[in-house]
Amino acid sequence: MKYIYLVVIFISGILLASDVKPINNQLALKECGSCHFAYQPGLLPKRSWKKIISNLGNHFGTDASLDKKDEQMLLSYFIKNSSDNSNQYLSRVITRYTRADKTPMRITTGVVFRRAHDELRRSTFLRKSVGNPGNCIACHRTAKRGLYNEDYVRIPR
Ligand code: HEC
Ligand code: HEC
Repeated sequence: MKYIYLVVIFISGILLASDVKPINNQLALKECGSCHFAYQPGLLPKRSWKKIISNLGNHFGTDASLDKKDEQMLLSYFIKNSSDNSNQYLSRVITRYTRADKTPMRITTGVVFRRAHDELRRSTFLRKSVGNPGNCIACHRTAKRGLYNEDYVRIPR
């Protein structure tokens, strides 16, 4: 039942042609796009961004730390545009389906991501041309524009 609702919002989202707000902050694009695709703030709730951005020194096994000033600037940008502060359809879906007592550190482990990709094999995400599930841009050619609509998907060989 829960999933039917999810499907309905996905479909209405496509009709409205709005997903997540694209990044319009140069620092976020540069710093958070240097090792991987620059994830839009609207893909996670603000409690997640707080935790992620205040732990950049130990970021998934790498050091992504910044000086305090830049960290503060990014933190306020990500919080301001977090899923729970956004009206875009995908952000609303993510907010709705993220348990309030959880603080996810990843987009790719959330129920919305898993549900959206349940027809894909794990091995597809691990292909050389993709790398890992977090490499949205490998398949979603319009990901930078915040468009994850399945019409613009092409899985590389
Ligand atoms: C020094 C390289 C580096 C920089 C800079 C960096 N990251 Fe990461 N990030 C990583 C690595 C490595 C992973 C884990 C990739 C994996 O194993 O899936 C990761 C994963 C993530 C994930 C989880 C993706 C998922 O699987 O859902 C998020 C969210 C994230 N980074 C946000 C950020 C943000 C926000 C910034 C900017 C403040 C940033 N990253 C800057 C290296 C970096
Ligand atoms: C290996 C390729 C691949 C990667 C990597 C990937 N996706 Fe997808 N994604 C797809 C495909 C294919 C679909 C369409 C699935 C279907 O229709 O069954 C999809 C569907 C979606 C949908 C649902 C769209 C709709 O119109 O219903 C969302 C949202 C989405 N992806 C977000 C993301 C995000 C965010 C990332 C990165 C964190 C990501 N995807 C990474 C291939 C990928």
